[in-house]
Amino acid sequence: MTLYEAIFMRRSVKKYDMTPLGNEVLEGIKKFLASINQLDGQKVQFEVVSADAVKNAYAPHYIFSYCEESDAAFANVGYVLQKADLYIQSIGLGSWWIGMPKPKEKKQNFCIMLGFGKTAVPQRKGEQDFNRLPINEITDVDNQIAKAVRLAPSAVNSQPWKLHFENGKVIINYFGRGIMKTLLKKLNKLDVGIATRHIEVALLNEGKEIKSITPMGKGNDFKIEIVYS
Ligand SMILES: Cc1cc2nc3c(=O)[nH]c(=O)nc-3n(C[C@H](O)[C@H](O)[C@H](O)COP(=O)(O)O)c2cc1C
Repeated sequence: MTLYEAIFMRRSVKKYDMTPLGNEVLEGIKKFLASINQLDGQKVQFEVVSADAVKNAYAPHYIFSYCEESDAAFANVGYVLQKADLYIQSIGLGSWWIGMPKPKEKKQNFCIMLGFGKTAVPQRKGEQDFNRLPINEITDVDNQIAKAVRLAPSAVNSQPWKLHFENGKVIINYFGRGIMKTLLKKLNKLDVGIATRHIEVALLNEGKEIKSITPMGKGNDFKIEIVYS
C-alpha cells in the first residue's frame, strides 16, 4: 500500500498484539524514520523504545519525539511523525498518536509519542468509515487535497484547520474549534503539521513537485504555506 492509500485506510489503533516486532521490521521502521524530511529550520529528534519505557503502555513499541517549544517546532513533529504513522500502517501494522501517557522517566524537551506494533483490529475499508467534519467546513474547494486533509488524525478529533487554495499554493490555517481549543494549543499545532503531511502526500500523488513548505505566524494566526508546481 502507498502512503497515499494509507490516508484512506488508517485508524488510531488502540488494541495490539503485545508480541514485540521482529528485528528486521523494527530496523526497517527506524531506517524509514531517519530518512523523513523535516520542515526547514526545524529538527525533531526521536527515540524508538519498548513498552517498559512508558507508564500504562498499551503498544509494544513507541517513538518518542523531542523538540523545542514553538508552534513551528510542534508542527514539524506532526509533519514528520505523520509520515511514520502512514508508513507503519502502509505495511499492515498499527499506530496511535497519544498525548496522555508519559515516559516513565522525565525527559527534557519531550514532545509526544506514537505507539506502534502488530494491530489486533482491521484497517478501515475507506473514507466512509471515518468520523470527520464535512469538506465544506474545512474549505470551499472539494478536491483530492481537501479529501486527504479531512481524514488527517487530530487530538480529540478537533480538526483544527481550514484550507485556502491559490494557484500553485495551498495554505493551511490553524482554526481552533470548540471548547477544547484553549487546552489543545500545543497538540493543535502538531495537528496542523499532520495535515500538512497529508497535503504533501496528496500533491505528490498527483505528480506535483513541492517547492516549499513554510510555517508562518503564531498562536491563533499560525499557518503553513505549501508551494508546488
Ligand atoms: C496529536 C494527537 C494526540 C492524540 N492524543 C490522544 C490521546 O491522548 N488519547 C487518545 O485516545 N487518542 C489520542 N489521539 C487520537 C485521536 O483521538 C484520533 O486521531 C482522532 O480521534 C481521529 O481518529 P482516527 O485517528 O482513528 O482517524 C491523538 C491524536 C493526535 C493527532
